[in-house]
Amino acid sequence: MHLARGTLYNILRPQRFLEVIGQDNTVKSIQMALSKGVLEHALIFYGQTGGGKTTLARIVQLNL
Ligand SMILES: Nc1ncnc2c1ncn2[C@@H]1O[C@H](COP(=O)(O)OP(=O)(O)OP(=O)(O)O)[C@@H](O)[C@H]1O
Ligand SMILES: [Mg+2]
Repeated sequence: MHLARGTLYNILRPQRFLEVIGQDNTVKSIQMALSKGVLEHALIFYGQTGGGKTTLARIVQLNL
C-alpha cells in the first residue's frame, strides 16, 4: 500500500476511469474528449454526495 499517497480514503479512491462504477455517460464523454484532445477548459460535476464527482475530477487531472 502506498501510504505516501495520503489518507486511506484517497488511496482507495478509484485512480482510473475503468474503476469508476456507473456514471457511464459522463465517463464516456470525458474519455472521448480526452482522446480527441478537445476537453473543455472547465467541467462542472453535479449530483448527490458520494456519487464520484471529486473522484472523476481527480482522474481527469491524472489524464491531462
Ligand atoms: N462511481 C463510483 N465508482 C467507484 N467508487 C466511487 C464512485 N463514487 C464514489 N466512489 C467512492 O466513494 C468515495 C466518495 O466519492 P467522491 O468523493 O468522489 O464523491 P463526491 O461526489 O465528490 O461527494 P461530495 O458531494 O460529498 O463531495 C470515493 O472515495 C470513492 O472511493
Ligand atoms: Mg466531492
